[in-house]
Amino acid sequence: MTMRLVAAELVDSRQILPGQWLQSFHAPELASGARAGQFVHVRTGDYSGLVLRRPFSINTADAATGIITLHFRTVGRGTEWMTRVREGEKLDMLGPLGRPFEVDPRSHHLLLIAGGLGMAGVRMLADEAIRDGRSVTVLFGAANAGHVYPSSLLPDEVEYVVATDDGSMGHHGFVTELMADYEAWADQAFACGPHPMLKRLAALAAGRRERMGVAKLGRRGGGKTDATGSAAARRKSFLQVAMEQTMGCAVGACLGCTVIGVDGPLRVCREGPVFAAEEISWEAIQ
Ligand code: FES
Repeated sequence: MTMRLVAAELVDSRQILPGQWLQSFHAPELASGARAGQFVHVRTGDYSGLVLRRPFSINTADAATGIITLHFRTVGRGTEWMTRVREGEKLDMLGPLGRPFEVDPRSHHLLLIAGGLGMAGVRMLADEAIRDGRSVTVLFGAANAGHVYPSSLLPDEVEYVVATDDGSMGHHGFVTELMADYEAWADQAFACGPHPMLKRLAALAAGRRERMGVAKLGRRGGGKTDATGSAAARRKSFLQVAMEQTMGCAVGACLGCTVIGVDGPLRVCREGPVFAAEEISWEAIQ
């Protein structure tokens, strides 16, 4: 789908967690073509008169109703401004941008792993996967019970497993520690969250093939090599990651969002935000 600039009308806005908001917009042009992992660039105002665009993962998109939702944290004046937009007002949105997650047609069991606001990056994939008849387990990590994404905002079909740093809900520890229980079940895994979490998952995924004996679906790792950044490279990868990165232009021009890939610099806004874990040079990631 081609990128469009649309006037998205706010239809609902609510705080779902401390400092975290879920907003729904009527934007049929975006809702009908967006795929999980993609994002929009929203023009926000603020009280100083400065106008900037900010990237937001597309949290859900419903082609039938024309509604997309954005889940974000208030981190500065632009996002504060967003929380004060009234229902009926329109925001200028550019999208959908970036490359989406790619699910192998043969994958039946999808493991989604999210840390904190990283839920926004994988949330839509749960809808897509369930629509396509797949089983989905979501592993979610947060600092404490007060920051756990509400299960009521996930589809009923999802198995939802929580880890908290302080043990106040679910597993006491990091969400990455839950991976071992699911790596044999999962055909593919899709993650979004802080870089240390993604780095740990990438290391676990790299060791999985040896632990499992053979690649579970029998063809990963063999055959021709797919070009870095290609949909095929992502589709064949056990682990795909959606990188959270500060962005400037969001259209590939400013180089403000680069991460180091194994073949050189990658623009998160253009070559990503979704990458096969093997495409990233993790030792360069803090
Ligand atoms: S944000 Fe400008 S190149 Fe990615």
